Amino acid sequence: DLTVNEGKIEFTNVSFQYPGTAEMVLEDISFKINPGETVAILGATGAGKTSLFQLIPRLYDVTGGIVKIDGHDVRKMKMENLRRKVGFVPQEALLFTGSVKENISWGKEDATMVEITAASVNAQIHETIMNLPQQYDTRVGQKGVNLSGGQKQRLSIARALVRMPKILLLDDSTSALDMKTEAKLLGALKEYTCTTLIITQKISTAIEADRILLLEDGKLLAEGDHDSLLKTSGLYKRIFQS
Ligand code: CTP
Ligand code: MG
Repeated sequence: DLTVNEGKIEFTNVSFQYPGTAEMVLEDISFKINPGETVAILGATGAGKTSLFQLIPRLYDVTGGIVKIDGHDVRKMKMENLRRKVGFVPQEALLFTGSVKENISWGKEDATMVEITAASVNAQIHETIMNLPQQYDTRVGQKGVNLSGGQKQRLSIARALVRMPKILLLDDSTSALDMKTEAKLLGALKEYTCTTLIITQKISTAIEADRILLLEDGKLLAEGDHDSLLKTSGLYKRIFQS
């Protein structure tokens, strides 16, 4: 899509340790992601996937190296601009007691119903919402309806989409979705033309992506699409066959 010209991410020799700890969580990571690309970050638990994500909206700063968005060092960007560009869907969906609508527009209170609905359609949660007792006005959380893990994940994705981010970071946010719903979601995100990084432990998710980054013990072991990784990475092949 030629209209996409924002949402480029560049890591150059990035290393990271949490403040006050001695352990290197990420070591010498370099990669580039083009605007509009969908890239899966694949790796075992503790590999450093969430830590890597946190460096993009500056929940933490790098210990060494540089993270750039659209050519700008994130540390030199205005926090407001950075947070507007980057939508981060955390590993645990955080919903509060309130209506579905309020939960989706949280942090963007001026969102219109049209925008909220569009975000929900793309997040593959609109139909579920329409089947709730008061649709978008249904209360969730305490004294409200209970949503399933996968429904919470999609609501949390809709919350990120309503802000129209140029970069969307999904931290294992599709782990509770079936393969068909997940494929529809990823397809809809392509229509949105935002750069999408999706952390996953599922090979099926990785296969759907344009490219895969394989992390192990804080290191970038391999990158490429499914077919090339099968040929070049022993670890990837083992994950695929397991
Ligand atoms: N870590 C830490 N302090 C934190 C969070 C994580 O020291 N506040 C460490 C963890 O102990 C781990 C490493 O950082 O050794 C990487 O953690 P993380 O990035 O959270 O790993 P993930 O790949 O995201 O693991 P998972 O799939 O379980 O989410
Ligand atoms: Mg994680």
